[in-house]
Amino acid sequence: MVKNITVVGAGSWGTALAQVLCDNKNQVMLYDLNADIVKDVNENHRNARFFEEVELPSSLRATTDLKEALKEAEFILLSVPTKVIRDVLKTINTQLTHKVVIINASKGIEPGTHKRVSEIVMEEINADYLEAFVALTGPSHAEEVIQRSLTTVTCAATVVDRANEVQKMFTNDYFRVYRVDDLIGVEIGGSIKNVIALAAGILAGLGYGDNPKAALITRGLVEIKRLGVAVGANEETFSGLSGLGDLIVTCTSVHSRNWQAGYKIGNGSNLQEALDSMTMVVEGVRTCQATYEMAQALNIEMPIVETVYEVIFNKLDPREAINQLMSREMKPEFY
Ligand SMILES: NC(=O)c1ccc[n+]([C@@H]2O[C@H](COP(=O)([O-])OP(=O)(O)OC[C@H]3O[C@@H](n4cnc5c(N)ncnc54)[C@H](O)[C@@H]3O)[C@@H](O)[C@H]2O)c1
Repeated sequence: MVKNITVVGAGSWGTALAQVLCDNKNQVMLYDLNADIVKDVNENHRNARFFEEVELPSSLRATTDLKEALKEAEFILLSVPTKVIRDVLKTINTQLTHKVVIINASKGIEPGTHKRVSEIVMEEINADYLEAFVALTGPSHAEEVIQRSLTTVTCAATVVDRANEVQKMFTNDYFRVYRVDDLIGVEIGGSIKNVIALAAGILAGLGYGDNPKAALITRGLVEIKRLGVAVGANEETFSGLSGLGDLIVTCTSVHSRNWQAGYKIGNGSNLQEALDSMTMVVEGVRTCQATYEMAQALNIEMPIVETVYEVIFNKLDPREAINQLMSREMKPEFY
C-alpha cells in the first residue's frame, strides 16, 4: 500500500532514502531549509549539491515549507544532523495536527543530556501526535544507496508492528531491512561507531595499515558493547548490522565523513581545520563528547574513545596517543 512519507533533511542520506521509498512506489516529500536544493529537486530532478550525476525519480517532490511538508505525512523520516534535531522536532511539534510515525536515520548522542534520538523525540513531540518511533540504521553509505547498490540495514521500534511496516516500506531488490527488538542497542551502536571511525581515519592519516585497523574495529566494538550493555542494550545487537556491520563500513571506507575528518587530523590538521574542509556533517565529534561524558559518569572503561577525545578536543599528539594506548597495562582479551 502506498505510504505518505516526509523526509526531513535533503542531504545525502535523506535524498538516497527518499529514492528508495520512491522506487517502492511511495509518495515522498523532501523538506530542507536550503531553497537551492529544493529548486534543484523540483525543477531538474537532481540534488547536485550531493550527487552531481544522479537523476532522481520524477515523483519525488521537495519543499522548504514545513507545514506543507507535514500536511499529509503518515511517516516523518529524520535525516538532519543530530545537532539540529531537537530544534527541528520542536518546530515539527508546533505544526503537527495528526498522529505520525517518526523514523530516525540520523546517528548521534546529545552531549550534556546523553540522550539518544528516540529519547529526544519522546521529549519534544506531544504524545498525542506520536504513534511510534522507529530507528533505521546499519552499514550504508548514501553514495552507494543512491546508485542502488546492494545494502542491508536494520530497524528497531517502540511498537513492533511499526518496525514490520517500515521493513516492508523500504525493502526491495537492492535495499534489505532486518528488524531487531533492541532500540537502545541499535541507537548506541549506530552512534558510537562514528567515534571509532574518527580513530580509523587518524590511523590512516598517520600512515598505518590494516593490522591497527582490525585492532581498532575489534577493540572499538568491545567499548561500544560495554557502554551499550550498561545502558540497557542487548549484547547480541552489537554483533549485528547496527554494530559490527556499521563499524566495518565506516572504518574501512573513504566515503565516511568521520573517517575523512580523522584522516585530516592524522595528517596534521586540527579539529577546526578538518571540519572546515568538510561540506557534510561529521557526527562523530559531538558523539565523542557525549560518549566520553557517559563513560566518565558511568565509570566505564573506554580507552579508545577517551584517546580520540584527548586528540580532537585537547590537542594530544596522535602519535603520543597511540603510544599511550599500546603501553596500557597488559590484560586478558576477555575478562
Ligand atoms: N550520508 C550517509 O551515508 C549516512 C548514512 C547513514 C546515516 N547518516 C546520518 O544521517 C544524518 C544526515 O547525514 P547526511 O550525510 O545526509 O548529512 P548532510 O550534511 O549531507 O545533509 C544534512 C541536510 O540537513 C539539512 N538541514 C540542516 N539543518 C536543517 C534544519 N534545521 N531543517 C531542515 N534541514 C536541515 C541541510 O541543509 C542538509 O541538506 C547524520 O546523522 C548521518 O550520520 C548518513
